Amino acid sequence: MMLSKTNNFLQSHCLTTQTLPPKLHNHFRSGEGNVSSSIPIPRRSKQRNLRLRRASTGVKASFLTQIKKSTSVKVVITVLETVGGPLSHLGIEQGLDGLTDLLGRTLQVELVAAELDEKTGEEKVTPQYFARKSGEHKNEIYYESNFEIPHDFGVIGAIKLENEHRQEMFVKNIALDGLPSGIINIHCDSWIHSQHDSLEKRVFFSNTSYLPSQTPSGLRRLREKELVALQGDGEGERKNSDRIYDYDVYNDLGEPDTDIDLARPVLGGPEHPYPRRCRTGRPRTEEDPLSESKADDVYVPRDESFSQVKQATFQAKTVYSVVHALIPSLRTYATDPDQGFPYFSAIDNLFNEGVHLPDIPTTGFLGNIIPRLVRSISDASNSVLRFETPEFVDRDRLAWFRDAEFARQTLAGINPCAIQLVTEWPLKSNLDPDVYGPAESEISRELVEQDIRGFCTLEDAIKQKKLFVLDYHDLLLPYVGKVRELKGTTLYGSRTLFFLMPSGTLRPLAIELTRPKIGDKPHWNKVFTPSWEPTGIWLWRLAKSHVLAHDSGYHQLISHWLRTHCCVEPYIIATHRQLSAMHPIYRLLHPHLRYTMEINALARQALINANGIIESAFSPGKYSIELSSVAYDLLWQFDLQALPADLINRGLAVEDPSAPHGLKLVIEDYPYANDGLLIWSAIKDWVADYIPHYYPEASLIQSDTELQAWWTEIKTVGHGDKKDEPWWPELKTPDDLIGILTTIIWTASGHHAAVNFGQFDYGAYFPNRPTTARVPMPTEEPSLEEKKKFLERPEAFLLETFPSQLQATVVLTILDVLSNHSPDEEYIGGQIQPYWEDNKLIKAAFERFQGKLMEIEGIIDARNADWSLKNRSGAGVVPYELLKPFSGPGVTGKGVPNSISI
Ligand SMILES: [Fe+2]
Repeated sequence: MMLSKTNNFLQSHCLTTQTLPPKLHNHFRSGEGNVSSSIPIPRRSKQRNLRLRRASTGVKASFLTQIKKSTSVKVVITVLETVGGPLSHLGIEQGLDGLTDLLGRTLQVELVAAELDEKTGEEKVTPQYFARKSGEHKNEIYYESNFEIPHDFGVIGAIKLENEHRQEMFVKNIALDGLPSGIINIHCDSWIHSQHDSLEKRVFFSNTSYLPSQTPSGLRRLREKELVALQGDGEGERKNSDRIYDYDVYNDLGEPDTDIDLARPVLGGPEHPYPRRCRTGRPRTEEDPLSESKADDVYVPRDESFSQVKQATFQAKTVYSVVHALIPSLRTYATDPDQGFPYFSAIDNLFNEGVHLPDIPTTGFLGNIIPRLVRSISDASNSVLRFETPEFVDRDRLAWFRDAEFARQTLAGINPCAIQLVTEWPLKSNLDPDVYGPAESEISRELVEQDIRGFCTLEDAIKQKKLFVLDYHDLLLPYVGKVRELKGTTLYGSRTLFFLMPSGTLRPLAIELTRPKIGDKPHWNKVFTPSWEPTGIWLWRLAKSHVLAHDSGYHQLISHWLRTHCCVEPYIIATHRQLSAMHPIYRLLHPHLRYTMEINALARQALINANGIIESAFSPGKYSIELSSVAYDLLWQFDLQALPADLINRGLAVEDPSAPHGLKLVIEDYPYANDGLLIWSAIKDWVADYIPHYYPEASLIQSDTELQAWWTEIKTVGHGDKKDEPWWPELKTPDDLIGILTTIIWTASGHHAAVNFGQFDYGAYFPNRPTTARVPMPTEEPSLEEKKKFLERPEAFLLETFPSQLQATVVLTILDVLSNHSPDEEYIGGQIQPYWEDNKLIKAAFERFQGKLMEIEGIIDARNADWSLKNRSGAGVVPYELLKPFSGPGVTGKGVPNSISI
């Protein structure tokens, strides 16, 4: 289509909001004339009679007949063309919508005045006008309408839209032209349902943010009504077009109607405390009235599902294709799902030759969607699944075997948030000794001193903060008996002790593996140490493999899933239910809460579900997700999600007002902490700049009904199983609010990036991080045959301990897609939000935030180039880039997105 005159206008003014510096007043000093600073309509205007195209039901006739003076305003609505959806441009619905466009009966528009009519006390709304299709450019379609606005209409506070199409539309932006202040943009980025689905009109508020008490009189009812609509009534099954945000427990992971072995406990409630998920309202299963039935398409509120608009969609589609097509194919065609790797060279072949895929129709399709993984072979009809060689192997193919690397990854790998300081000796358990055996660890003083004798005594090591532990004893031990009843896996409780060397690096001293009394089998535990004799070397290597499986499980289930994806979902639901879209805190948080609900819904369908990828590949098997509930119950605290509080709690830092960020690190070269604190502080400074504009005094926080309802709902509903805990921060002062918001933003950005985007690099070569250990140690009651096997060919014993070929291949595939950045990834501090551009002070604060993040890039590069920092730099070492803010697309091992989108 030729570009029309309108389109030229759009090209020059509307294609990006950044090109339009709106000349709005300063809206941020709340309570000082916010109302008059919205979208001003001139008092002096051209005399023209109002022409109605269609009478509005909401406008009084007396109001219309009295209008004599008016001004012309052009409204341009930018709609994004949907892409890629199988039904998006085909079929009868599309044809009818094309006809609707031709007839000009497309979108009905009404402008709403910010203030009520002074005389009548009623809302002032313009008549409804049809917006006609006026042009298109690239993937944008423009609809235009001309309004005559009466001179006494006042400030425009909102726009109502009604979609006459049969299909939903994605509205990006609404621009108003003709006002003396220049073009005004109203940011939308939202799906508008068809009026055939619901007669309810959509309301978009102006870009000016208001606290509830400062809402202009003409918008108060709309503000409240919109929140009620988003909250829903808690009844019925949700439709895909719904926008309702509500809570439910995790009762949709099992599949008891398919097989009673696939029944799973409900997570959420007194027995299994857990955060809440988005309610979908599906019917219950027949076998278990507490469980919700499975669905192919899991509901998320419409604007959380960005399908057909954003390239992030392809990210979700990639994951979807992998979990719904590729992995089922691998499972179906695996000849022996329990078969391990016969030789180490067979592991290398995953990266060299690849795995031949069965000759099934989906492989061609998969090759198009995931070309990085599925490659066609020119001389054969089928394809191969071949993995890129991870940088970790590329730099040093033997690093995985070394103790120094094992220890380094506790500080700079993908689970750097589990290691803690040893503060008392001996190491002790809090479990019941009658059930789980002696509370005191078998790692003895003599054993430790034998290794550290040249440096200090045990007392000095503790006093000088040089002993650290990875403690997976109390969390795992209660599950050892149950897990050992499952086929193809085993489990221990474990403790791994480290000593901080003068070089600033950690040295592993001992691993203790414990099995509690199970039936007739007595309590068993054993301490393994680095060794200089052949059997001891192999036993140490096997013990490390068990600990790495524990660490992989803790990483995936707790550091990654629970602490980020799962715990953030209640923040998202509460933000949409309790904070109006015009609330300044909604607008601050929104970029950090996008895309997460959709990826979480996908996780419930295929990753954490019964017999899903996690259960089938991690040591705890069917108890995996239940273990994350135990960790939530025992370990999770909101206040400890703040990085500084987490470091202090683990004994890895102490408060020191004279140190950068107010913290002195106990291990000075702790890459996750050092880089994380840079990001944490940048976020905190930005939030601290933003908050005072809206809350110059504490009383405004206490009287903000929406904000208080938001925080109460997070504490008592979304995280309701923890509602009586004493550690929830109060929300009374600007500092309280800054702390809460910084914690939420850090969790969704920095914390998630640190534990997510290195998964392929560190986990793909699975000997470095096996997800499971399938057989017990050869010294734990071995049969004669097992003992013989271990002594004659210990490598085979290790390969048998590692994941099976099928488990490893499935995990590699999923790690590859989960470590990927989409081409239009939104990085922290990358793109300014339209709401912030309108205020000079906020815009300047955001630019300072951007500047700091750019600076952090340079600081991290410099740190990685500094050979004195041995935990992140040196021969064959993968530099620590996981908290570098920006990245290109793909699997890069760096980049901090705004939100959890993968
Ligand atoms: Fe993730």
